[in-house]
Amino acid sequence: MSGARALAAAALLSLALSAMAAHAQETPAALPEAPGREETFHTCVACHGTAVISRSRLSREGWDELMDWMTEKHGMPRLEGEERRVIVDYLARVFPPGTQRRGGNPFLTR
Ligand code: HEC
Repeated sequence: MSGARALAAAALLSLALSAMAAHAQETPAALPEAPGREETFHTCVACHGTAVISRSRLSREGWDELMDWMTEKHGMPRLEGEERRVIVDYLARVFPPGTQRRGGNPFLTR
């Protein structure tokens, strides 16, 4: 193989690989839009999909406790300070208790 052909082959391969990776991965758009979405996505989706998160509905205290549980039980790097506040605020805002989807608009409270 000439150098140029090898290069073209490598370029094609990396294109194919990045297309596959993009397909397999979720993006922050899988979570509801609100401040803190990006931080939450990148912190939590390292280990599991957004579905694991979005099927839970917790109070702010509940989400806060879940952060400790995620660290103690599952080895998540401990969240502290501003980062923790941003993420817990986000989760409590978009996944509050009593808003389980029942086919309606999940953002309407009644
Ligand atoms: C180090 C890996 C790791 C990180 C980081 C992580 N989790 Fe988890 N999480 C797990 C594992 C493992 C489970 C249990 C297995 C499963 O349900 O997939 C889990 C389960 C959950 C559950 C389901 C609990 C239940 O009641 O079944 C929720 C909700 C959750 N995680 C939220 C989060 C949120 C929010 C974040 C980000 C702040 C986060 N996780 C970050 C590993 C992690």
